[in-house]
Amino acid sequence: MTTVYLGTLAHLRGNPFVRPNALEIIADGALWVDGDGRIAGYGRAGEAPETGERVDFGAAWLLPGLIDAHLHFPQYYAVAAANRGLLSWLRETVYPEEAAFRDAGYAAGVARALVARLLRGGVTCACVFGSQYLEATGALFEAAGQAGLRLIAGVTLMDRNGPDELLTTPERAWWANETLLERYGGDPRLHLALTPRFALSCSPQLLAMCGEFRRRHPQVYLQTHINETLEEIAAVQRAFPDAWNYLDVYERYGLLGPRTLLAHDIHPQSAELRRMAESECRVVHCPSSNLFLGSGLFPLRRHVEHGIPLALGSDIGAGLHLSVWEELSEAYKIQRLQGETPTAAQLLYLATLGAAEALELGGEIGNFLPGKAADFFVLDPGGDDYLDARLQRCPTLEARLFVLMQLAGSGHVRRTFVAGRPVSP
Ligand code: GUN
Ligand code: ZN
Repeated sequence: MTTVYLGTLAHLRGNPFVRPNALEIIADGALWVDGDGRIAGYGRAGEAPETGERVDFGAAWLLPGLIDAHLHFPQYYAVAAANRGLLSWLRETVYPEEAAFRDAGYAAGVARALVARLLRGGVTCACVFGSQYLEATGALFEAAGQAGLRLIAGVTLMDRNGPDELLTTPERAWWANETLLERYGGDPRLHLALTPRFALSCSPQLLAMCGEFRRRHPQVYLQTHINETLEEIAAVQRAFPDAWNYLDVYERYGLLGPRTLLAHDIHPQSAELRRMAESECRVVHCPSSNLFLGSGLFPLRRHVEHGIPLALGSDIGAGLHLSVWEELSEAYKIQRLQGETPTAAQLLYLATLGAAEALELGGEIGNFLPGKAADFFVLDPGGDDYLDARLQRCPTLEARLFVLMQLAGSGHVRRTFVAGRPVSP
């Protein structure tokens, strides 16, 4: 049975950094979804099939499900703590809260709350640093699987420079990842990511284990951090004195490739950008985190010029926003501070189709092309008198979309659908 959803549609049909007309907005549009939860078509309301159920969202916008490509499960309740920068914040705020996830019951409650909150904000796919504890990370997979969130996640791996209760060994790390792969590898919406926290918390042996695991299981993702703060970069140079640069630490252990997601990269050397492009790594920009920790201004243009696939992350708990939609305004402002002016199309791309392509999921999600999964959300400015009035005064639909990026948030998300099924509220 087909269901037809009516509203204003906006999505990308290509990469707006290279194709100026990639953004498509259809006022009085329709999206029709088949009984298997796949998009059967989209267009003007008058073009929709006349059979089947019709769900009319009026003046609301239908947008592809958002992709939050970087956040930390055990930091869900560590958001918004006063800090003096990354390394002391990790020690003082993050590690104590992450240690609480040894309690699997506590972890399961947080997992359900986090997953529900992401869906409520229009996020239908997330790349998540799990807990250091296997059972807690298992609870995250369970919560995502039950609620319908597409998840890329793994146990956060560290074996040095942290409190003992958070440290593992290469052998235990291998076993934990094998266990997750066995338990959840059969679900097409759940993916394992090897998750070495960052170079400073990993011994050469742990990084080598990650490289070996990926050679054995090439479908597995790998996510980590890179070039976030100058203090961190200097410490990495001291910890790995033979490495040419930060990226080279990861390259030496065979960690680069198309399924490698590198968060931040605020202070890259040109040689690193060239090598990231050659090795097809992906970079995840986390705007509010970069501002909140004072890490620096992400050089978007340099990444785009190198052709590096990009995505956006909330980076909870360094970031402040539980919907990646709210990161779009921060991303814009970070570029303005560097004299750049990203368009609404480019911003939407980073949170939807561009991120899907960066995660090698572009054939499945990211826009409304027929055959893709019907993962989308409804952003409704109705009921917010000021926002509504502001939108009325926009000269174009694209200008309206831009205003929505600046002024709308999770509170305006009316409903989220995964595979054509409402999952929130
Ligand atoms: N680098 C290593 N660990 C972390 C983390 O938890 N958050 C951020 N923002 N950067 C990191
Ligand atoms: Zn992070």
